[in-house]
Amino acid sequence: MKRLLIVSNRLPVTVERRKGDLVFKGSVGGVATGLGSYHETHESLWVGWADVAAGRLDEEEREHIRTRLRDEHQCVPVFLTADDVRDYYHGFSNKTLWPLLHQFTQFAEFDSSTWAAYKRANRKFRDAVLEIARPDDTIWVQDYQLMLLPQMLREKLPKASIGFFLHIPFPVFEVFRMLPWRSELLEGLLGADLIGFHTYDYVRYFLGASRRILGTEDHFGRVSFGDRLLLADAFPMGIDFERYAEGAHSEQAAHEAERITQRTRDRKVILSIDRLDYTKGIPHRLRAFAAFLERHPEWRDKVTLVAVAVPSRTRVRHYRDLKSEVDQLVGSINGQYSTIDWTPIRYLYRPLPFHTLLGMYAAADVALVTPLRDGMNLIAKEYVAAHAGRDGVLVLSEMAGAARELGEAVQVNPFDLDGMVEAIHTALTMPEDEQCKRNESMVRRLSRYTVQRWAEDFLGKLEEVKVAQIDFGATPLDSETRKELVRAFAAAKNRLLLLDYDGTLMPFSTRAEEMAPDREVLELLEALGSDESTDVVVISGRDRKTVDDWLGHLPVDLVAEHGVWIHDRSGEWVTIEPMSDEWKEPVRPVLDMFTDRTPGSFVEEKDYSLVWNHRRAHPRLAETRVTELKEALDNVVAEEDLAVTEGNRVVEVRLAGVNKARAAYRWMAQDDVDFLLFVGDDRTDEDVFEMAPEDSWTIKVGVGPTHAAHSVRSVRDVRELLKAMTEADAK
Ligand code: G6P
Repeated sequence: MKRLLIVSNRLPVTVERRKGDLVFKGSVGGVATGLGSYHETHESLWVGWADVAAGRLDEEEREHIRTRLRDEHQCVPVFLTADDVRDYYHGFSNKTLWPLLHQFTQFAEFDSSTWAAYKRANRKFRDAVLEIARPDDTIWVQDYQLMLLPQMLREKLPKASIGFFLHIPFPVFEVFRMLPWRSELLEGLLGADLIGFHTYDYVRYFLGASRRILGTEDHFGRVSFGDRLLLADAFPMGIDFERYAEGAHSEQAAHEAERITQRTRDRKVILSIDRLDYTKGIPHRLRAFAAFLERHPEWRDKVTLVAVAVPSRTRVRHYRDLKSEVDQLVGSINGQYSTIDWTPIRYLYRPLPFHTLLGMYAAADVALVTPLRDGMNLIAKEYVAAHAGRDGVLVLSEMAGAARELGEAVQVNPFDLDGMVEAIHTALTMPEDEQCKRNESMVRRLSRYTVQRWAEDFLGKLEEVKVAQIDFGATPLDSETRKELVRAFAAAKNRLLLLDYDGTLMPFSTRAEEMAPDREVLELLEALGSDESTDVVVISGRDRKTVDDWLGHLPVDLVAEHGVWIHDRSGEWVTIEPMSDEWKEPVRPVLDMFTDRTPGSFVEEKDYSLVWNHRRAHPRLAETRVTELKEALDNVVAEEDLAVTEGNRVVEVRLAGVNKARAAYRWMAQDDVDFLLFVGDDRTDEDVFEMAPEDSWTIKVGVGPTHAAHSVRSVRDVRELLKAMTEADAK
């Protein structure tokens, strides 16, 4: 049976030493609570840290922990040393990655010794996984603490299904690039087969960063990197809906809710609950509440803010500073507005048992969930679930991933104090039937896309990627297969040979004019093309005139400008369809600007395409520019319906739908063809590889991802193959 191994920094169970005894309890935080309920109901093993100081455990205690975690929780502990905890967990994970990925750049520290610890700790997780992994297990790595793990596992288990999910935001390029170890981290992630994020924005930022930093290529989220294909996609994490929807009506929760209502003396209750973290915007929220009381004095004594902050990462300075700030703010707001029988803010700094949490959700008229930046935020979803079929208003920050799905919430920008005051007022005065109506729509969505569905969706996609990978990449053309090809050619009556020019028939040169056909190529084409039963088509990206000058006298058909122009022996050059070149106007200045900024590059103008050629520019500079150029062209391309393709040292812009495949189709569509060969080398040839019928021969020159079935190493190999074909024919 296929097993699932979940790997995360924190296990859903935390072990604590209390008065000499080891106590096991549930962990807090999005990953543990969110994925915890999936784990409980599935055949999975969870590998992670149990938050217990390994140095203080003797071997007997470790064994006890291992056994209990395995037998009662299907968990496997990783034991971290005090140094690991300081440098990997508090250090690199929470002083570098957490702030940086949340775009709190001012808090991010860059320290090579914590980076070394991060690598070391990721290796410990790798070893723990390798100890239990079976070859057909699916491994699902969670979150920012383990970004190097996918690649570390890939090296040892090249065929494994490895997924990665980032539970926090992925930032824009300008922020991510600040990280001195940005390439290593991205390479670490790219070891996975599927990389998941909460929102599509994070997917885009990630793809952009990989393109610009590592030069990956992507097409609808499919990323090719080296010889691997993987996928990046959005999977908004859900919750265990029933647990909250039903739980809120349980006796214990109802009792708890009743207690809160009594204590707050039937005043309206606003609930604020988070881990005490600077990303959650707690001070902003408290200030907004104070401003609300100031501007709406009619609400004083009528509303209580229950603010719960769960202690977190207290060994990191910014968290301690935040604690003092919150303590002070609560004190000063309460000092200013309290009366003998009313305290505006009830502040709790501790974790809550589950039934108390449910009681609070149930009792709250309003939930104020206003993080400054948050990957998803499950509290918002839990509150809505607890209010299924009833009133209650969610005020939600636009900056939380959850805002994408919870459009009916009162949405606010947490940095906008006036807007926050307004939102609190709107929430408190919203008619009950409207509250119910809004909740109903959100509940419908949350009850469908539960954490269960989320996990199944992710794991299903992971399997799909594994299947797609099978069709990806070519097998080198070995001598047996080559012989078979030549035999098939010799036996066929109606052969079609489609051959790319640059990089396939002629080796690549930095001087375009040096690539005129040499004698050997001319002779080969002549010999193959003269045969009655063989159609030879040279499909080039070059302009019509050059192709005509170089090859026009041969008994072969020609395609120029990547499929714009076609020419068969009987006739004239014709375009594949009537075409316009008006789109060139907005494109030309963009290419010119890149030429000015990139010494050695130039613009080539063809009848129906514009090309930015960088074959003489510095390769590293060109690499960066290509990515920038593609981004700069994005808007024009969408408006004018253009296609941008990257060939060998060129970026070419032309009308969408005009490509080599479309041109090749004219010949391929003849139904009496009984031998079809296509040889090409770059991305402009991929469309043809992809479209070629199952039983045709497709060969890519060079290494790298391709839709071709076979590959050869060089132009020399192509020529030898063609030669063997002419010789077979002569026999
Ligand atoms: C967020 C992170 C989790 C983390 C949790 C609690 O939800 O995405 O990876 O486990 O916070 O933080 P902690 O540092 O206590 O594990």
